[in-house]
Amino acid sequence: MAKFRTFAVCFTSAILLAGCNQAAQPDKTVQQFMAQDVQPTADIYWKSVQYINEEGGQRDIQPQTDAEWQAVQDAARQLAAYAELLKTPGYAEGRGSDWIQFADSLAEVSKQAEQAAAEKNPEKVFDVGGTVYSVCSACHMIYPTTSGPEAEEAAASLAADE
Ligand code: HEC
Repeated sequence: MAKFRTFAVCFTSAILLAGCNQAAQPDKTVQQFMAQDVQPTADIYWKSVQYINEEGGQRDIQPQTDAEWQAVQDAARQLAAYAELLKTPGYAEGRGSDWIQFADSLAEVSKQAEQAAAEKNPEKVFDVGGTVYSVCSACHMIYPTTSGPEAEEAAASLAADE
């Protein structure tokens, strides 16, 4: 059963993310792992329920079919697996104990996210999605990105504080 579930997750993410083996690679940098695996998977979850205000009124997006709900549930389960991966030495080594706590929080909220999708409850998916986002942000506040415009912004704001 456990084996089958692993297979199912890999199978789904193979379609969604073009590759499950990649996700298990310990030698991906954190940045690659975030950009290629964590972010796209979180996006599947976040984009599944949206309340959009448009001219002409409100347009709500939510999963319509069992398969669509299943994809949201799978994304949440995948996020929980990624959280576990963040705790492995390849990613956790050299970090403070807060790193593990952030990863644990992500694992925990991902389970709530999975539950919300299993219940097919759009409001709950939306709410938990917000919590997922704050967990991502909490870790990024302490462990900011080391490259790209975000890093330059962070460096600039640190410099401005001095
Ligand atoms: C345990 C800590 C931790 C958690 C939790 C975490 N991240 Fe990250 N994330 C990082 C670190 C560290 C970097 C910076 C990597 C670098 O630039 O070296 C990063 C960078 C990123 C980046 C930028 C990648 C790039 O191309 O530069 C994205 C996007 C991202 N994370 C998405 C997410 C999302 C979405 C979540 C939540 C679902 C999340 N992260 C949760 C630690 C974390």
